Amino acid sequence: MVSSSSGAQVLVASNRGPVSYALGADGTLTSRRGGGGLVSGLSAIGSDAGAVWVCAALGDGDREAARRAAAGDGLLDSADTGGQQVRMLDIPPEVFADAYNGIANSVLWFVHHLLYQTPLEPAFDADFRAQWAAYEAYNAAFADALAEAAAPGAAVLVQDYHLTLVPGLLRERRPDLRIGHFSHTPWAPPDYFRLLPDDVAAEVLRGILGGDRAAFLTRRWAEAFAECCAVVLGAEVARDGDAGLRVTYEGRTTRLGVHGLGADADFLRDRSRQPDVDDRLADLREQIGTDEDGAPRRTIVRVDRTELSKNIVRGLHAYRRLLTDRPEWRGRVVHIAFAYPSRQDLAVYREYTEEVSRVAGEINDEFGTDGWLPVVLHVKDDFARSLAAYRLADVALVNPIRDGMNLVAKEVPVVSEAGCALVLSREAGACAELADDALVVNPYDIEATAGALHEALTMPQDERADRSKRLAMAATALPPARWFLDQLAALSA
Ligand code: F6P
Repeated sequence: MVSSSSGAQVLVASNRGPVSYALGADGTLTSRRGGGGLVSGLSAIGSDAGAVWVCAALGDGDREAARRAAAGDGLLDSADTGGQQVRMLDIPPEVFADAYNGIANSVLWFVHHLLYQTPLEPAFDADFRAQWAAYEAYNAAFADALAEAAAPGAAVLVQDYHLTLVPGLLRERRPDLRIGHFSHTPWAPPDYFRLLPDDVAAEVLRGILGGDRAAFLTRRWAEAFAECCAVVLGAEVARDGDAGLRVTYEGRTTRLGVHGLGADADFLRDRSRQPDVDDRLADLREQIGTDEDGAPRRTIVRVDRTELSKNIVRGLHAYRRLLTDRPEWRGRVVHIAFAYPSRQDLAVYREYTEEVSRVAGEINDEFGTDGWLPVVLHVKDDFARSLAAYRLADVALVNPIRDGMNLVAKEVPVVSEAGCALVLSREAGACAELADDALVVNPYDIEATAGALHEALTMPQDERADRSKRLAMAATALPPARWFLDQLAALSA
């Protein structure tokens, strides 16, 4: 194990790490590298910088890998991790399930995305209290591991709503460390945040305020966090113009920061030209086909995890409205909807996935003809196929109810071959950077979304290409490596 005297200078903590493992029947472990901003961000500082990534073991394969690593120095084999030093925590499965499924994805995710919709939810009862205790234990396991692995004065970057208590717990264990927390989600406004039981709401805020910095993807989410601190804790909030916010609570000040993660242009351009993407593009072209004049059908593309905040069902209803109100589009457009199954251990996410398939099927039954399938839906994790769809996109539909950022809105304009029009929810963090050249919609307004789809499809090609170029420029302004290094620098400032 890395000792605290000689330990890591930089540590990242997140629920999901950069690698996952599958356990074969014969006991062999096969690793799979993940993607995303954090992975490319951390690789920017290089493997010899002494950085350690602490994450949770998420399945049987991960657990086995963590156990085998524990027999040595606690770190996973760097051949599997792309050279990064990764320590996976073997948290008891029932503790993990309550913390991740119970609290993180059924409560905190719902609060920050304003997803509670029924008169029966939320209901904070004894089950909730048991899950909350698991969430505390899971956060404490991270704090212990970080405290043990960090060199004196090291910088620790804690990620997301799974780990809100870690900054405070780590500060108790290691007051010498520089600790930052980054929220990849939106932050709920105080009235909604206060759905949480009072003590839990306070514990979450106090946890994050245990750090020196708390950072967000947009100013809007940072402001909401500051307001929650003022309303729930009575903390003092100071605004230094555009430069930043500071929250002072019980004599300690935490600086708030904003870092809007951008798309990784070099990676996307290179990856989207690989042969496996070309193959999928050829398949997709065939599936989409041509209209009665022999022209390739137009495409409206969306790619999401099957997760309620993404608002896939209302997007499908808007497309149905378009075909109903504007019959001229029948046979001339295809809606490509790719959905990666997400959090399927939870019934509410499974039911949502089923609803997506049901509504897509209804549209195909209502409008489809022998030669035209109006909705091409794939519920599968296939990044190469998504990139093929990006290349084909005439229109990208990104209509979340609420989203920390939404990288799809930033990726499609970078990859689209002919330039795409972007129909974008005003509630996505990305809207703060892309509003000038997107068609901005209220995600609940199905009529307005259908109207924006029509406008996007009828936009003159020159205008579409120009807007798409500007969108791509704005989308890549803060690539993952800089996003990560900026946070690190701000923590040291
Ligand atoms: O948006 C918040 C976030 O943690 C992202 O960073 C990540 O892409 C997503 O949620 C992952 O969710 P999960 O790990 O539950 O699949």
